[in-house]
Parts: sequence; structure tokens; C-alpha cells
Amino acid sequence: MKVRKAVIPVAGLGTRVLPASKAIPKEMMPVVDKPVIQHVVEEAVAAGIEEIILVTRSGKSAIEDHFDTHYELEAELVRKEKKALLQAVQNIVPSGVSIMSIRQSEAKGLGHAVHCAASAIGNEPFVVILPDVLVRSGENNVNDLARMMMEFEGKGYAQIMVGEVPVDKVHLYGIADCAGVNPAFGRSEAIKGLVEKPLQSDAPSNLAVIGRYVFPARIMQLLRDGKPGAGGEIQLTDAIDALLTEESVGAYKMTGETYDCGEKLGYLKANIAYGLQHAETKGGLKEFIRTLELN
Ligand code: G1P
Repeated sequence: MKVRKAVIPVAGLGTRVLPASKAIPKEMMPVVDKPVIQHVVEEAVAAGIEEIILVTRSGKSAIEDHFDTHYELEAELVRKEKKALLQAVQNIVPSGVSIMSIRQSEAKGLGHAVHCAASAIGNEPFVVILPDVLVRSGENNVNDLARMMMEFEGKGYAQIMVGEVPVDKVHLYGIADCAGVNPAFGRSEAIKGLVEKPLQSDAPSNLAVIGRYVFPARIMQLLRDGKPGAGGEIQLTDAIDALLTEESVGAYKMTGETYDCGEKLGYLKANIAYGLQHAETKGGLKEFIRTLELN
């Protein structure tokens, strides 16, 4: 079945980037000239997603506003004949794509947030995108999310995007156990299990879950029936473990780059990497970097 829908949980408090995220959602922090959430939505749309469900909470309405029409601003840009800006503002949601939001009224974990979108997902497979992480196409402009969706459509079972991380960073991620097999870049291998944030000595590999998943609708029932796990929260990892007792789950190894904008260094790296690609900033930024004393 074709994957058309994506759930993007945006209800997190953003404690890793305080105080920047005190009064604005962390997802609204800009990377060059677009908020992080817009980069993520563009990645989903480029992969063929048509319906996006944002799982949100109080204090996050700037995200909904960003994807809504701003009549006064548009009228002003028309009056001033600022055509390029007008287009940039009007094309935030491309035609043929719809974005809706659902509130998660209790902070009961990532699994619970995803389950909040159950009625909007219905009986269809869907993608989950964790919006802290930006995924940028690697060489040949491969859209990893699109490729992973194709793996799902071909194989018929869940796919989890993974990327290699240094061994001293495995405690920060969900880690895939591929029974010793390391999938080729851009390919997927069935996994034996997932371990959430293991100690370096217990990690079955250095293949980290980087925040992109394709699930069959069945995962929603498993989330609904799931018992609270670590931290008393409904964990997505537990539902994936339950799914694994019923059918295969694949680890898709990404080809591109990731930037974790939910933490300071990752956010800075994203701004530099995207700034070096942006037509308006790349020349000046390169020059500026050359003037820095890098030692
Ligand atoms: C979550 C997931 C983890 C994944 C990570 C990617 O953890 O639980 O498996 O590796 O996102 O960013 P969090 O970073 O929300 O603690």
C-alpha cells in the first residue's frame, strides 16, 4: 500500500535548547531562512507525503500559524510588489498537500504522541518524523525518506532509518541489532531488535535510529495496548518490539547527513551546512569561515 501520510510529533518542551525555546517552539528556530519544521515538512513532501499530521500542545500555536495563510502579510507583499517573498510565503504548503494538527493533552511520551494521530491515520501505513533531526540528501540527491518508503512498499513491513554514530555516542540513541549484518547504504536489513539508549558496552551495533520510521497501521493498536515503559511513558520503541514478535522490521541505512537541531552544536552545524548551500549566503559564509582562526 502506498504511503501518503506522515505524523510529526511537535509536543516536546525543547529543554535541550533553553532558553531559546522558552517562548517559541524549538521547531520554529530558523536554519538559515526557514524554521526547522519547514525543512522537515519539505523533506516529507519531496518524498511524496500528501497528508501531514502535527501532534502538538499548548504553547506551540506558532507552528500552526506558520503553515496557515497570513492574509495581512500577503496583502502587504502584493501592495509592495515583493513577488519572490510572496511566493515563498504562499508556497510553504505546496498545493496537493494538507497539514492538520491534533493536540496531545498529556505528556505521556513519544509513543503516546504518535497514537494521538490514530484516527487521522485510520487503516493506512504512515511515516513518523521526529522534527529535531534534519536529514539532508547525500550525493546524487537521494531522498532517504523516499527510498525508505519504497523499501516499505516493496517488502511490506516496517522500516526504521539508521545511521552510523561514533561508539561513544550510542547511549544517546535507539540502537538497531541487525544480528551482526551492516546494511549497505540506501538498503535495508531485517533487525533482531532495538535497544533504547544502551551503554557502550551493551550496544549491539553503532547503527542509531535517527528519527524517521515507516509503520503499518498495526503499530497504532500496539501503542494503544502498550503499557507505560521507561519513565512511565508509552514508548515507541516498546511498540516496535511488540511488532517484531508478529512480523519483520527493517533497518534502512541512510546515505545523507543528519543534524540534530534539538541540541546546540547540531543546530549550529545545520546552520553552517545549509548556509553553505543557500544561494544568498554561501559566498559570504565561505569567506567568513576562512577568516576564522580554526585551531
Ligand atoms: C528518540 C528515540 C531514539 C532515537 C532519537 C533520535 O530519542 O527514542 O530511539 O534514536 O529520538 O533523535 P530522544 O532523542 O527523543 O530522547
